[in-house]
Amino acid sequence: MGVQEQYRDYVMTGFVKRIEPVVVDHGEGARLYDVDGKEYVDCFAGISVTNAGHHNEAILEAAKAQADRIVHACSYVYYVPVVGQLAEKIAQITPGALQKTFFANSGAEANEGAMRLAKRHTGRREFLAIESSFHGRTYATLSITGNSGRKKGGGPYMPGVAFTPTPYCYRCPLGFDDCETCGLACAERVREVARLHLSGECCAFVAEPVMGEGGIIVPPDGYFRAVKQILDEEGILFIADEVQSGFGRTGKLFAIEHYGVEPDIVTMAKGIADGWPLGAFTARSEIADAFQVGDHLSTFGGNPVSCAASLANIEFMQQVDLPGQAAAKGEKLMARFRDLMKDQPLIGEVRGKGLMIGIELIKDPESKAYATAEAGFVRNWCLEHGLLIGVGGNFGNVLRLQPPLVIDDAELDTVFATVAEALVEAGKLATV
Ligand SMILES: Cc1ncc(COP(=O)(O)O)c(C=O)c1O
Repeated sequence: MGVQEQYRDYVMTGFVKRIEPVVVDHGEGARLYDVDGKEYVDCFAGISVTNAGHHNEAILEAAKAQADRIVHACSYVYYVPVVGQLAEKIAQITPGALQKTFFANSGAEANEGAMRLAKRHTGRREFLAIESSFHGRTYATLSITGNSGRKKGGGPYMPGVAFTPTPYCYRCPLGFDDCETCGLACAERVREVARLHLSGECCAFVAEPVMGEGGIIVPPDGYFRAVKQILDEEGILFIADEVQSGFGRTGKLFAIEHYGVEPDIVTMAKGIADGWPLGAFTARSEIADAFQVGDHLSTFGGNPVSCAASLANIEFMQQVDLPGQAAAKGEKLMARFRDLMKDQPLIGEVRGKGLMIGIELIKDPESKAYATAEAGFVRNWCLEHGLLIGVGGNFGNVLRLQPPLVIDDAELDTVFATVAEALVEAGKLATV
């Protein structure tokens, strides 16, 4: 029986339209190879995870060395040196006074834990989140996710959650044409939503500094500064969900650094260990110390091998200035696609930070109708031609370019040329 038949008969896959027809064998840097030796440029990094590249020697060596010593002891029952070392490192690299870390296994588990901590610290129980957001697949994280496509069939969700409009200038939900003159109305709405839709018991506002699954939405400059001021006035904590935007992806180690704002809690996963499963949240000491005996734990959280990989991952990022590389490479790639817009009417907007890039496809500039079928076509065409990309947005019309940050210039040329050609083919489809 082949792997595709095994998946069909023995793996639960009903929740995805399809598994991409690639049987993965191995990876190297920004390349993946299938079992027949076909090579792909990987511009999705396993949903934005392998930021330091596939098969990164330094990270693998660190993980192997740790596996030789101990794979699991439970990092919350015994002291494990590498867990302490990683926590100290994270305190050094996270913004401001963030200091104490809880280690989990995934992004959803990190967000759940951060929500629990926010409740404990404030004594309040309600949450504010953003429409079009995504925070995970567990009950609480789906409850603060603003995307019905991800929530359908799972309700009713947690009470005490209110959603504030998406800071999405290309399709402003408040109807403004110009994000220069709107006075950051979307930020001001945070205060109104907190006051009018909740009962005065809001403990935290949870937001992605760059929204990933929602279609690589970059809030306008000033949004998070204005929101943080409102949150401080209302006694609400700010949890920055850096699960997707963290670890160099946007050109800084953490995307919130672009905005000059210090969150009260940061959550992370994905790029934290270059593919080894690990999630985490980090808080200022006075917040972290709110946990009381029995409040929290995780059997696998802080797995020593994942922590060793994470430590080596962070050291690698600092040694080669991976965030700086992502910033420069991303600027160049976005400039090329913006230039292409002159000849390519399918592109409505090119946006992003660093190598977290979204290309929003539209049917025409007047209606800005979602070019969903075209985006799916482009993804499939790219795959057939040796390039792996993602698709996102509430209506599946945003191409997502999120490669390993070690991607080189020649590979970026391939990304641009292949996507550009796929867009031409997709355009023909529309006119047939
Ligand atoms: C911003 C954000 N938060 C949380 C999650 C959930 O992470 P995980 O799938 O590791 O639970 C994701 C996953 O895509 C994400 O993008």
